[in-house]
Amino acid sequence: MVDLAIAEPVSTGPAHVAIIMDGNGRWAASRGLPRAAGHRAGVEAVRRTLEAAVKHGVSWLTLYAFSSENWRRPSDEIQALTGLLRRFVRSELSELGRNGVRLHVIGERNRFDADIQTALAEAEAATASNTKLNLVIALSYGARAEIVAAAQLAAKLAVAGKLDPDKLDEAYFANLLATAAMPDPDLILRTSGEQRLSNFLLWQSAYAEFVFTDVLWPDFGEAEFAQALAEFSRRERRFGARPS
Ligand code: IPE
Ligand code: IPE
Ligand code: MG
Repeated sequence: MVDLAIAEPVSTGPAHVAIIMDGNGRWAASRGLPRAAGHRAGVEAVRRTLEAAVKHGVSWLTLYAFSSENWRRPSDEIQALTGLLRRFVRSELSELGRNGVRLHVIGERNRFDADIQTALAEAEAATASNTKLNLVIALSYGARAEIVAAAQLAAKLAVAGKLDPDKLDEAYFANLLATAAMPDPDLILRTSGEQRLSNFLLWQSAYAEFVFTDVLWPDFGEAEFAQALAEFSRRERRFGARPS
């Protein structure tokens, strides 16, 4: 007999949503405000998005907050961004932790001030047993640097006799990346109308679905998140197999 409990349709929503949060500067400029005001408003959008992710049952949310190339920006803007990051990790993360969020950080965190590095490490440790939402923040993250670091590690392991080069397959290599043990993103969303990856999750995005919206990041919220999930649900993912 068919077990109807098993035959229930399973949710087809994305387990892992990754967002390139772009457009803070243009949002501020359109209001005659300094770019820092756009970044402040962007933090509000992060809060809304975290709530939306939990509401929609997404279990992994990766946020591209600062790229390794963003260090090329003027120092006053970098100061504004690191100031916001400092405030976010000090005040928001403990609250998020209480709400079941587990924090992971990817990227060259050692390029940030020591107090920020300490606060990040503490938040990761304090939230390690949380399971409601895995929040991955990409900070000073660059996918090419990540891949090169993994290749370097593989080379060192091989030279040390700990890795047979013939055994280096995709699964092994993926485990050397910063995202080891994380699922690949199902949906990559970019705000502000730009349609590029800007060095984000190049390896991991091999079979991701992409959604681009013209909405600027500070205007992003639950409605836009739900819209992106609806768009995702209309996509047919094939992974190279025959169309169904
Ligand atoms: C995204 O907004 C925030 C970061 C990249 C840190 P931008 O600052 O890139 O805003 P635009 O693209 O100039 O509008
Ligand atoms: C990508 O946005 C990085 C983040 C959102 C953190 P950028 O604004 O830095 O990207 P480009 O320079 O337009 O490609
Ligand atoms: Mg930008």
